[in-house]
Amino acid sequence: MDLNRTKILGTGKYHPAQIKTNLDIAKTVDTSDEWIVQRTGIKERRIGDISKDEGPSGMAARAAKIAIENAGLEPNDIDLILFSVTFPDTMFPNTASWLQEKLGITNKCGALDINAACTGWVYGLTMANALIQTGTHKHILLVGTEMGSAFVNWEDRNTCVLFGDGSGAVVLGASESTDSSVIIDSILGSDSSKKESLILPKGGAVAPIRQDVLDKNEQWMSMDGQIVFKNAVKTMASHCAKLLKRNKMTMDDIDWFIPHQANLRIIEATGNLLKCPEEKVIINVEKYANTSSASIPAALHEAVEDGRIKRGDTLLFAAFGAGLTSGATLLKF
Ligand SMILES: CC(C)(COP(=O)(O)OP(=O)(O)OC[C@H]1O[C@@H](n2cnc3c(N)ncnc32)[C@H](O)[C@@H]1OP(=O)(O)O)[C@@H](O)C(=O)NCCC(=O)NCCS
Repeated sequence: MDLNRTKILGTGKYHPAQIKTNLDIAKTVDTSDEWIVQRTGIKERRIGDISKDEGPSGMAARAAKIAIENAGLEPNDIDLILFSVTFPDTMFPNTASWLQEKLGITNKCGALDINAACTGWVYGLTMANALIQTGTHKHILLVGTEMGSAFVNWEDRNTCVLFGDGSGAVVLGASESTDSSVIIDSILGSDSSKKESLILPKGGAVAPIRQDVLDKNEQWMSMDGQIVFKNAVKTMASHCAKLLKRNKMTMDDIDWFIPHQANLRIIEATGNLLKCPEEKVIINVEKYANTSSASIPAALHEAVEDGRIKRGDTLLFAAFGAGLTSGATLLKF
């Protein structure tokens, strides 16, 4: 069976207008702009406003419309929605179904949420690639959209300084035989032995949110930052090195490295391990903080829009998140 080759047809992003700076946070918890910038590189983050439909599906609809338009398509050309989301609109129906309605898609295409935390969009890219390759789907909308602001405890300085809201989207389809754009290879992983180092422990079926959870103020995410930090660097670097090696490439062949935008120190340490020149690394964590699975597609769109990333460039994505999940993708844009 001849397989199609998958390409990114169009990109889009959306960040809410409302900005929360480090100084804003320092008004309510014991932290400082200096501490946050030094440890994370983050200066500010965006916060979604539900009254303006800036929940996960609302942000995703704005990013997706841009991606669909940039792909030269109409919403009803989409035949599958893959929605990477850790903080969904509702437990069910899935957020992809809310998005289908908001995009005015009436063709009743499949709509699926993916939860692999911050790595979810890279997981989705691997799944979408396989579906386009086999020809079962023609135009897949893959979004990563997150509203971490709804699940962090704004009184917990360990976590509240790190996260922000936003959305990134791409449309994937088959590339022409003459087209150099193609998803080349990817690696996915998860180390469940460390799953409790980044966790939202309550609110699922095993521990629903009841009065006792609220009384103990246990309804928020919790994190062991140092375990997450070390594993993020090690795993992202090793996935990238493995991908390059098995495709007989080196960092010299990469035009742009887009790592998950969790923390500037994680990005720099990963880049150093890979011996990646600083000028090849796309970074916007200072403006948006960690937008979880939205961070790579949003950074991709930003760099395409401002002209840094061009058609034919070789890109390397690396992601890491709760699970502890991880993944990397190598492609020609
Ligand atoms: C969270 C993180 C920034 C903390 O940095 P760190 O250098 O590991 O700092 P530590 O946790 O050792 O804390 C050092 C001190 O700063 C304090 N501290 C923690 N958060 C603080 C904050 N926001 N402001 C001021 N002080 C803070 C700690 O209480 C500790 O104080 P102590 O020495 O008196 O006990 C870092 O571990 C990290 O980035 N981890 C990865 C997190 C991440 O990216 N998660 C999402 C992955 S998808």
